[in-house]
Amino acid sequence: MIVCSCNVLSDGAVRECLSPGPGCPRTPAQVYECLGCSPKCGRCARTIRAIMRSALGEAAAGDGGHACTTACASACSLVKVQAAEEVIAA
Ligand code: FES
Repeated sequence: MIVCSCNVLSDGAVRECLSPGPGCPRTPAQVYECLGCSPKCGRCARTIRAIMRSALGEAAAGDGGHACTTACASACSLVKVQAAEEVIAA
């Protein structure tokens, strides 16, 4: 499904650039950069954030938790998003 009509980005393309690790995009702007484009109208930013949260949930639910090694966990955006969501949920 196309989630960004300005750049013709699919949800699958967004998910593919969200591999856990220090180089993982932390913001929608970094997702655009990772995919070789830039934000135009910005209407898709909320959807891209939702895809990022979903990817985190899948990473946390699979194989007993977060997929990063201990060495990268402190710098990994997925850990930071997870921590922020835990604060919001508390
Ligand atoms: S829909 Fe993504 S920048 Fe316009």
